[in-house]
Amino acid sequence: MAILTTEGLTYIYSAGTPFETAAVDHVDLQIGEDLMVGVIGHTGSGKSTLMQHFNGLLQPTEGKVSLEGKDIWADKKMLREVRFRVGLVFQYPEYQLFEETVFQDIAFGPKNMGLSGNEIQRRVLWAADSLGLDRELLGRSPFALSGGQKRRAAIAGVMAMLPKVLILDEPCAGLDPKGRLQMLRQIRDYQKQTKSTVLLVSHSMEDVAEYTEKLLVMDRGRLFCYEDTAAVFRKVEALQEMGLRIPQIASLMLALRQRGCDLPEDIYTVPQAKDALVQLLRKGAVSC
Ligand SMILES: Nc1ncnc2c1ncn2[C@@H]1O[C@H](COP(=O)(O)OP(=O)(O)OP(=O)(O)O)[C@@H](O)[C@H]1O
Ligand SMILES: [Mg+2]
Repeated sequence: MAILTTEGLTYIYSAGTPFETAAVDHVDLQIGEDLMVGVIGHTGSGKSTLMQHFNGLLQPTEGKVSLEGKDIWADKKMLREVRFRVGLVFQYPEYQLFEETVFQDIAFGPKNMGLSGNEIQRRVLWAADSLGLDRELLGRSPFALSGGQKRRAAIAGVMAMLPKVLILDEPCAGLDPKGRLQMLRQIRDYQKQTKSTVLLVSHSMEDVAEYTEKLLVMDRGRLFCYEDTAAVFRKVEALQEMGLRIPQIASLMLALRQRGCDLPEDIYTVPQAKDALVQLLRKGAVSC
């Protein structure tokens, strides 16, 4: 069953002025449960604007957004629920920490949900552990943390609400390669454990190739496609036309296929490429 649905979703910034922009233009989508979804598209293609509709932060200029079949703007009660059931983490969320301690910051969402003290405590510890935040840090001021730790605290605060849908807008931006890899693995483990739907907005084709099952591709406000990750990376020319590229390893596989190597078409991650090449070498087909 679809958890998130949009019908004709359109959002226009600065309507009626010379700056009028249709940032999201008649988007129809059905996103399922228990999925890792990558959201890609050129800068300005409408990714963040679309994401902000999923938890009711922006109201459509036209069209509809539904959560589990119910229009999120149906009434105030629904909208309040949506804020808890769809967690949105903005780009650079570390600038939004404001409580006295890291614990209080992570507890902010669960507290607003009206959970018991015990449950809040349990969730804060679980979210901190899930993101590799040392429990020792929970009593400190968020401002005493490093940049990476602050980012983790901010994301933990949204994870601790255990939303059905977690949206992360560029969660790895600015992290070093090691921090980036850790963060992606932790996000994937969180998704597996909670069976929620995670939407990961990213400019890294490598990251979405490795960590997502579905890709939502935006192109100048329009939905280009919402399909299996493998299927999207087969659309090499269309992606290039909209200023995107396929992962480097997929380009290498394509080049090898063009030189006559018998390699399957849907290889777009390094581990897949390694397996396929080992098989090819075992068959003794090394002439390509
Ligand atoms: N607050 C705003 N006021 C006016 N126009 C805006 C505003 N925010 C975004 N836009 C415009 O809406 C369009 C979509 O922007 P959006 O930020 O959703 O794209 P994006 O795909 O998230 O880009 P990026 O990859 O750079 O984050 C762009 O043309 C952008 O200039
Ligand atoms: Mg954006």
